[in-house]
Amino acid sequence: MKALTFHGPETLRVESVPDPVVEAPTDVLVRVELTAICGSDLHVYHGREVGQDPGTTMGHEFLGEIVEVGSAVSSFAAGDVVVSPFSTSCGACFFCERGLTARCESGAVYGWVSDGVGLQGAQAEYVRVPLADSTLVRAPADLPRELVLLAGDVLSTGWFCAESGGVGPGCTVAVLGCGPVGLMAVLAARELGAERVLAIDSIPERLALAERFGAVSVDFSAVDPLEFVRAETAGRGADVVLEVVGSPVATRLAADIARVGGTISAAGVHTEATFAFSPVEAYDKNLTYTAGRCSARRYVERVLEVVRERRVDLGELVSHRLPLAEGVRGYEVFDRKLEGCTKVLLAP
Ligand SMILES: NC(=O)c1ccc[n+]([C@@H]2O[C@H](COP(=O)([O-])OP(=O)(O)OC[C@H]3O[C@@H](n4cnc5c(N)ncnc54)[C@H](O)[C@@H]3O)[C@@H](O)[C@H]2O)c1
Ligand SMILES: [Zn+2]
Ligand SMILES: [Zn+2]
Repeated sequence: MKALTFHGPETLRVESVPDPVVEAPTDVLVRVELTAICGSDLHVYHGREVGQDPGTTMGHEFLGEIVEVGSAVSSFAAGDVVVSPFSTSCGACFFCERGLTARCESGAVYGWVSDGVGLQGAQAEYVRVPLADSTLVRAPADLPRELVLLAGDVLSTGWFCAESGGVGPGCTVAVLGCGPVGLMAVLAARELGAERVLAIDSIPERLALAERFGAVSVDFSAVDPLEFVRAETAGRGADVVLEVVGSPVATRLAADIARVGGTISAAGVHTEATFAFSPVEAYDKNLTYTAGRCSARRYVERVLEVVRERRVDLGELVSHRLPLAEGVRGYEVFDRKLEGCTKVLLAP
């Protein structure tokens, strides 16, 4: 089959790889109909996240049709159209039972293989899904497949970020980063009752989408975001900061614009070894910091309900729809934010 594979920083290829097979009785094989490129793929692409084996198939966001099921799979059959959270989970271990499916003792993130251990990605014609019964979610037939795909990561992660930050009625929320996940965090913050959402980025198309999703946009290349947030909050700072970038600069800014007693909820993936703010700053501001991988399995059905009830309008989040064969260009366009790129879908 054809797959988009990693061969070192900024070196990707679409090439022929062996077809995946059912390896365990709890596996299924999915023929990928739609897959997406995520900001998390960019950390691997740039070599910030180190250890990915050359030849690994990239990607963790997908929707497709089941073509083969292992003998122990009971909830799904060939022909079912499914969406997957970006990591697999058993549903029964210590962490799954506590809702931390992203840290399942036997789970894995698609598209990450290091020293031969891990799970191949979904930017391919077929993908193997372990622990299928407890991982997959049937795609509702009445919803557009592109929106269903978004529930597997960006929509769930935006919700997770806002909810972890304790966003509620009356809050002033600052969202750092208006990529797909930040934009979904804007939506989630509005849904959870935030009074004001200040969305900070420098990319005009993304800031325009943030406004469409209910935020006041702040272009940090033109306006000092710290001064802007202070001016909007009687000098105090934001009640909640949703950090959806994944860089020390963003962490630093988050600590500056959070108010005393405020919360920073970081969905950005971090690869640095130290914090960009100090324990004394955290102490002096009574800050709460919460972070980590989204347990998307907990959110998929819930965010699909929100989409179904049309409580949110995902509008034009998807800017590019390309064949898998153009996947390498898809990465370049998404990474460099060319052609007004906000989100790239690939169709194998
Ligand atoms: N926690 C999770 O489970 C999870 C899941 C999905 C994605 N992520 C992470 O979320 C982050 C965002 O993902 P994405 O797909 O939206 O990526 P993206 O790269 O498209 O978006 C990042 C955005 O941040 C903006 N930005 C850069 N520096 C900034 C700064 N200092 N202040 C404000 N904005 C800044 C960029 O212009 C860009 O629009 C990534 O780090 C990704 O790895 C985490
Ligand atoms: Zn992702
Ligand atoms: Zn588990």
